Amino acid sequence: GKPVNGKPASAPQPGGHEAELFAAVAAFSVDAPDLPPIIAAHAYGSGSYPYSDRPKRKIYEKDLHALQIELLKLQEWVKAQHERIVIVFEGRDAAGKGGTIHRLTQHLNPRFVHVVALDKPTEVEAGQWYFQRYIAHLPRRGEMAIFDRSWYNRAVVEPVMGFCTPAESAHFLTQVPVFEKMLVDDGIRLFKIWLDIGREMQLLRLHERHLDPLKRWKLSPVDFAAPARWDAIAAARDTMIDASQAPVPWSVVLANDKMRARLGVIRQILAQIPYEGRDDGVVGIPDPAIVLDGRRFLG
Ligand code: ADP
Ligand code: AMP
Ligand code: MLT
Repeated sequence: GKPVNGKPASAPQPGGHEAELFAAVAAFSVDAPDLPPIIAAHAYGSGSYPYSDRPKRKIYEKDLHALQIELLKLQEWVKAQHERIVIVFEGRDAAGKGGTIHRLTQHLNPRFVHVVALDKPTEVEAGQWYFQRYIAHLPRRGEMAIFDRSWYNRAVVEPVMGFCTPAESAHFLTQVPVFEKMLVDDGIRLFKIWLDIGREMQLLRLHERHLDPLKRWKLSPVDFAAPARWDAIAAARDTMIDASQAPVPWSVVLANDKMRARLGVIRQILAQIPYEGRDDGVVGIPDPAIVLDGRRFLG
């Protein structure tokens, strides 16, 4: 009795490969015992992912290690200069937010970095100004706060799942640039990352979660509902990005490949902060095929 998926965004070519994939996606349920091979075969390239080859893990690990050293320099600088950093992670279920945040924070001093992953609002919180409960988690001087989902729930998850009204979501989109401008004007460095995955990749990962006892806890009713809401989430994402490119633009990171996505996210953040001792040979420029400004993503 689990929901099945809606139609893919692009119409299938009758009789071709596409039609077979379309049918498999439409019929698949995340808690099915087996993932259809055709979905697995199309996962990596799904959503017009620009690469077909996987990076070498050894090289990824070397690059990640070097970037994590840069993150430590960044943290020292944030402490010494009494800076405040906020990083917001958004994306579909199974986009890889948790794993990316894990690599970002892995070697940092936990006293000066906080990961904020709020549960659904309580009765009391639901009666407050929407931003109120998030404000309590903003960083003080010398700190970094990383939001694993954020106030942007009101732009995507909540309206798509029916947890808020369309009017509440529209109202949020008018308030969010004003809210963020206050943060930025007060000296907070704000980064907004949307991790984007393709449809078949989402199915593969949600199915994996269901099979893996170490990951099954991640599978929530919202996850089960996500595949059927593929198109609605895409529309809400695009509306959100369009409405909230100011005062800080979105970085959309194509995340079918976790290794490339993690390196891209870390580079994107480091490259924009003038911390002491930055090694530009290590930080480099985020891969422009993977890390897109929100405007460029919308096309
Ligand atoms: P996650 O993807 O962060 O692991 P879920 O997939 O369970 O968590 O839920 C996605 C988001 O939707 C979470 O931020 C959660 O707090 C929020 N959410 C779930 N149920 C509700 C609800 N009834 N009202 C508002 N927000 C909700
Ligand atoms: P992943 O499935 O790789 O995206 O990671 C999901 C979560 O599993 C992370 O948020 C971590 O908590 C944990 N995890 C994954 N890989 C490791 C690792 N190498 N070391 C420690 N924890 C990990
Ligand atoms: C993850 O893979 O960590 C996801 O982005 C979190 C989720 O499933 O919502």
